[in-house]
Amino acid sequence: MCGIVGYTGPREAYPVIIKGLKRLEYRGYDSSGVALLNEGKLNVYKKKGKVAELEESVLGKDLHGHIGIGHTRWATHGEPSDRNAHPHQSQSGELSMIHNGIIENYVQIKQELLSKGYHFTSDTDTEVLLNFIEDIKKNNSCSVEEALRIALKRIVGAYCILLISNEDPDTIIAARKGSPLVIGIGKGEHFLASDASPIIEYTKEVVYVNDYEIAIVRPDELILKNLGNEKQTPFITKLDMELAAIEKGGYDHFMLKEIHEQPETIFDCLRGRLLTSSGQIMMGGIENNLEAFIKAPRIIIVACGTSWHAGLIAEYMIEELCRIPVEVEYASEFRYRNPVIHQGDVIIAISQSGETADTLVALESAKEKGAFIFGVVNAVGSSIARLSHAGAYTHSGHEIGVASTKAFTGQLAVLTMMALKIGYAKGTIDETRYMQLMQELEAIPEKVKEILKDTTNIERIAIKYKDATDFLFLGRGYNFPVALEGALKLKEISYIHAEGYPAAEMKHGPIALVDEKLPVVFVATKDSYYQKIVSNVQEIKARKGKVIAVATAGDEIIPGMADDVMLVPDADEVIAPLLSVIPLQLLSYYVGLAKGLDVDKPRNLAKSVTVE
Ligand code: G6P
Repeated sequence: MCGIVGYTGPREAYPVIIKGLKRLEYRGYDSSGVALLNEGKLNVYKKKGKVAELEESVLGKDLHGHIGIGHTRWATHGEPSDRNAHPHQSQSGELSMIHNGIIENYVQIKQELLSKGYHFTSDTDTEVLLNFIEDIKKNNSCSVEEALRIALKRIVGAYCILLISNEDPDTIIAARKGSPLVIGIGKGEHFLASDASPIIEYTKEVVYVNDYEIAIVRPDELILKNLGNEKQTPFITKLDMELAAIEKGGYDHFMLKEIHEQPETIFDCLRGRLLTSSGQIMMGGIENNLEAFIKAPRIIIVACGTSWHAGLIAEYMIEELCRIPVEVEYASEFRYRNPVIHQGDVIIAISQSGETADTLVALESAKEKGAFIFGVVNAVGSSIARLSHAGAYTHSGHEIGVASTKAFTGQLAVLTMMALKIGYAKGTIDETRYMQLMQELEAIPEKVKEILKDTTNIERIAIKYKDATDFLFLGRGYNFPVALEGALKLKEISYIHAEGYPAAEMKHGPIALVDEKLPVVFVATKDSYYQKIVSNVQEIKARKGKVIAVATAGDEIIPGMADDVMLVPDADEVIAPLLSVIPLQLLSYYVGLAKGLDVDKPRNLAKSVTVE
């Protein structure tokens, strides 16, 4: 994780960097810092906390310079503090560097350097790498670029680094492996960043740097090389993104904006793909690989966090509609446990950012074993999108709130279309069911709009329960992963302990927690499990638990039993999660808000987890 920004050109670098860092704060906000080169003098400023705190701390300081690098940190090595904040400086003070990633063999390198008399002012792996570069440069009397190349061949781990030196005051040297880097090409200027959001207002022409590439960036020149010092041709891409998409647009928080965007983002995801009138689903990535899916002995879904919950719902859908066995794996577990991958198995990777390190590395190793990888990704051009053999973008737009909302419903929309297309082609669903589900899916954006029309009831419920110390979320069938997602959202945003459970499994443990103080959220929409969940609600009421239910509009039983109800329009159970998750997103948002917390940047979290 961590966000990095760099600038070289005629502008003052500081405002460009600060603005860029604010856009990248979703990647971490434990500390931030900038290094500016001004007439041969290197000024480094850093501060624990958010970028706004850095800004305050540098008031009155020399902030001039036409070249600079900046960093917003999600701590890995070393606690969040001023000392561990980036940029770091080499022992001689000549080099300054920022880093996103982890150097796994830093202890060994640090020991080598300590024995040579180096001392360290931070606990970070970054400072070790920086002094390692400086040491190589000294010993070989070579350029910074050459020293960096030698160093990178020795280190194990992931990195995106930006390096400046007062020896070469126009140049930023950058390198990446496993952490993203985009370079924006302006007129006589270049912008570097972890994603395109800090670049978008200056230029739409960008180069996505690949793993094992080094970029030498000057105002008028961009040179890309591989680690063998051979020049590479930069591939220039045009950004398909507007500035408005990364601004709050009148909402108090990005999370609220993104929740409210869902009618449009789901519509955008279905647009041009779900052709209900002709009974077609147009998805090139599936169409071109239909055989692989139809013949797949098994589908393995690999993801993390909220994307993993979308994967669980996809398991229910694919097994029901396509009759293909599905396993849903936490990427971090899957990659380390030497999984069995059979010939013909299809792997579906689900990721909003397309940069989650565990998912990425899991896919790399599955790809080496010959698996076919299909990516369901939101961020266009991201590492997972590029690594996949084929895929489908969710087209949810830039998601900035750390807690994922619109990306989740985008994933569900894509996965539903996939299951329908494969199931119909395979003959495991008949035309009537296929057409019925297509129509139901098409109606979802309007139904989401209905839920979002008036959220005052959800806000009231949030205020009523905001001081609870624990929550239980229960659901069955398709709504079980929704319960997990509801619990995760609440934990992330409000810091209230919450557990999601299958409603029936609740009797095997969590029921012991139930008393008059425990709010229990039931995701209890009208589906084939409805009667069973009614009994589960009764079991909680009999033990004096407080029941908050997500129920179907028009239902007369659940609202009569629950203490509080959040209604959603009726929908087929296969796609009901696209609706039932919305009140839960809002509930956590309003609880977080009522507790006075920073819902867009919850403590300790980051949006894009690029460390394993
Ligand atoms: C982080 C984010 C979550 C996200 C998860 C997986 O934990 O805070 O919102 O669900 O990473 O990220 P991905 O980008 O792969 O979907």
